[in-house]
Amino acid sequence: MNSARCFAYMPGPKPLPLLGNSWRFALGSKPWRTSALDITLWTLRMLAGDGGAAKVAKLFGHPDLVFPFCADETARIYRREDAMPYRAVAPCLKHYKQELRKDFFGDEPGLIGIMETLVDNDRELPSDFLTELYKWALESVGAWALGSRLGCLNDNDTEAREIIRCIHGFFHSVPVLELSAPLWRLYATTAYKTYVEALDAFRMICLKRLADKGVCADIAKISGEKVATILALDLLLVGVDTTAAAAASTMYMLATNPRAKKRLQKELDSYLPTNRTVTSKDLNKLPYLRACIKETLRIKPVILGNGRCIQSDAVISGYEVPKGSHVVFPHYIMSNEEKYFPSPQEYVPERWLRDNDVNQREVIRCSVSRSRKGVVAGCEQEILRDSEQVLHSSDDDVTAVCRKQKEVGIHPFASLPFGFGRRMCIGKRFAEAELQLLLAKTFHRYDVSWSYGALTYSVTPTYVPNEPLKFTLTPRKKDRLHKYS
Ligand code: HEM
Repeated sequence: MNSARCFAYMPGPKPLPLLGNSWRFALGSKPWRTSALDITLWTLRMLAGDGGAAKVAKLFGHPDLVFPFCADETARIYRREDAMPYRAVAPCLKHYKQELRKDFFGDEPGLIGIMETLVDNDRELPSDFLTELYKWALESVGAWALGSRLGCLNDNDTEAREIIRCIHGFFHSVPVLELSAPLWRLYATTAYKTYVEALDAFRMICLKRLADKGVCADIAKISGEKVATILALDLLLVGVDTTAAAAASTMYMLATNPRAKKRLQKELDSYLPTNRTVTSKDLNKLPYLRACIKETLRIKPVILGNGRCIQSDAVISGYEVPKGSHVVFPHYIMSNEEKYFPSPQEYVPERWLRDNDVNQREVIRCSVSRSRKGVVAGCEQEILRDSEQVLHSSDDDVTAVCRKQKEVGIHPFASLPFGFGRRMCIGKRFAEAELQLLLAKTFHRYDVSWSYGALTYSVTPTYVPNEPLKFTLTPRKKDRLHKYS
């Protein structure tokens, strides 16, 4: 603490007298735009300099935000977390729960084979495919949390449509309420009205749907119906946009990286059962699929940074940081830096495979026997013929990236898409299972491709593609189409 520099010297945008820094987000010009927080983070990274930290001070109604851009610092701060680490509740959520609907929430803080019918004559998915992914994620989390089907995948279900509309309204209004000047404290702005309407609708759905099955029903038995409803609400709010965004990005990454896609399809052809329900044991045999998801969440994490409110004065990256400041761990930046992930923009799921992964050995054996004997036992010839060229053309690049990655190792705090410690994502295992199932079935059945330019992304506050997700789905083998129920 004695040798630390004063907090005032930590770099960051200079606040104006009275207006602080909120005016930057209120004006919304880059790099201070709520929908382009990725660019905001890169700007702060530049201001922080090598291995340092940057801050955004004096935002209305907010403690100062501190951004340490170093995985070692991240590890150190996370590890000194108290028994109950504190992540500040977004002021607008606090307002809804603890002021506007206090009568309901009291003092409980809470936690926070349809594709075939969608393709057109050119086998392209519709421009609102992201909405379909939202529906899928909501249906899954609803079944898990509430123990009943919500009917989101049924086009005619008006309640389901209402739920989706509310989800969009909620997620688009939160960044506006949080980062722009909090005019909603003075009068009901449009974003505020959308936000409250969405939360009210969700609350009603959770109350109505709380059945005697599902995770929340178990909670209801122990802690009462109200706590269970609050938990259900939180799970629905955080478990839909996140998983849908992760699914969209992984499909895009694989569709635009034929080498990785072919390797995944080879793994699926060998290990995914098609004549019975897929179990968690089957998913355990798909390490390359898991690596594809990890690699996607490294390049395009759904949440760009995790926050903690520090409970005592601390030294961060050599600066004194006062108690009460919010530290934001910008893992999106670290996981895209050469220092932690060589060739960071290259999509190389192999960097996540361990030497002893079953299918890693299998693939090596396969390519050896292929080159030696010209045949590959147990592998489908047709798929290999297709993939031969792509596999060979870029094998060297992949090996080079993996070699460099092995040299630097994977820092356990450089890519944390689900957070860390006691407040990490409670839906991680569930989300991973959902993603694995959706992607395994889709890529096994279809050759997913992308015929448009590179996707651009916005923060809403999840990091999602802006353009319509018009993937093309070409069936890989006729007989596979009939095997799925
Ligand atoms: C790919 C999908 C998902 C991603 C990337 C994701 C990411 C995250 C992150 C980064 C956090 C903050 C962690 C921290 O501060 O250390 C979080 C918290 C949380 N997530 Fe997820 N999440 C996903 C899916 C889900 C799902 C499906 C659910 C529930 C069904 C869920 C429930 C939660 C809850 C309740 C919290 C708050 C935990 C707490 O405050 O203690 N998430 N998630």
